[in-house]
Amino acid sequence: MKITIIGAGNVGASCANLLVQKDIIKKIVLLDIREKFSEGKSLDISQMIPIIQSNTKIIGVTNDYSKSKNSEIIIITCGIPRKPGMSRDDLVNANAEIIRYVTKQSIYFSPKAKLIIVSNPLDVMAYVSYMTAKIDNHRVIGMAGILDSTRYRYFLSKKLKISPHDIQSLLLGGHGDSMVPLYRYTSISGIPLQEFLSEKENDEIIEKTKKGGEEIVNLLGTSAWIAPSASIIQMVEAILKDSKRIFSCSAFLKGEYNLKNIYLGVPVILGKSGIEKIIELQLNNKEKNLLKKSYDHIKSMIVQLNH
Ligand code: NAI
Ligand code: 2OP
Repeated sequence: MKITIIGAGNVGASCANLLVQKDIIKKIVLLDIREKFSEGKSLDISQMIPIIQSNTKIIGVTNDYSKSKNSEIIIITCGIPRKPGMSRDDLVNANAEIIRYVTKQSIYFSPKAKLIIVSNPLDVMAYVSYMTAKIDNHRVIGMAGILDSTRYRYFLSKKLKISPHDIQSLLLGGHGDSMVPLYRYTSISGIPLQEFLSEKENDEIIEKTKKGGEEIVNLLGTSAWIAPSASIIQMVEAILKDSKRIFSCSAFLKGEYNLKNIYLGVPVILGKSGIEKIIELQLNNKEKNLLKKSYDHIKSMIVQLNH
């Protein structure tokens, strides 16, 4: 079984590192457009293998998609990350051009692959990849909700002084600033969040979560990669192990939540075919309005795309 990671930068190389450590696949192809870059990253990761005793092999290639042939999953992390002062949305047209090119190449050599899109602005790049790939929408999945959710769980655990392991949460909508919190659907070991925290206190944590990516950009001068790659690997594992886990992922909507022709974060069941089901929750008016705002925001970027 083979997985290709496009983009050997911070997120891509970190994903490769985690996947090798997991020891759940035979081969990883790490591909980047920068001459010799993924070759160097792969060599470094390969030289860790004798210590960690993984059976996964990794090779690095410069823009040679023939090596990605017949991959089960292709993780698309290439593109430009944001710098301080930039929003994810500022990247839209530069990254869209890259995503179109890499999607075409990827699907040509691996027509049955599931694509996990990571590049920003996430929901728009997932849409661009899906439109380019012309494959079943269940096979093109955007990663954002798991990251937003793990940040939320981390901030909640700090506020409540409890283990983050026991917090379950689902978020809807666009990645980051336009995400839609689901206070009613957050629980701690099955106990509704309402029993620990008022909605107003929760709103403060949600604001912190929305700015979670920006906080890291301001500290590091580039965007996060460690929590993002752990989030991607959760999706990869759910697909490879056909474990039918429920996560918030960016999915193409065809009328679910009364929205269509857009990628937005929604709870999905992930298994061997990719998205096996989109779960539709009964939203209240406040949640519906927030989701509509998120839809409008993503739609406005889709309209701006150069064709
Ligand atoms: P990075 O700059 O470290 O790596 C990007 C890599 O893409 C570079 O090595 C570059 O050479 C490569 N690249 C550019 N054009 C390419 C092409 N045509 N083909 C192959 N490779 C190409 O950036 P980083 O930090 O790894 O972030 C990558 C992307 O992921 C950014 O768009 C970032 O905003 C996004 N991101 C999304 C997250 C999410 O939650 N969805 C979380 C973290 C990052
Ligand atoms: C993040 O939220 C950059 O989207 C990325 O960290």
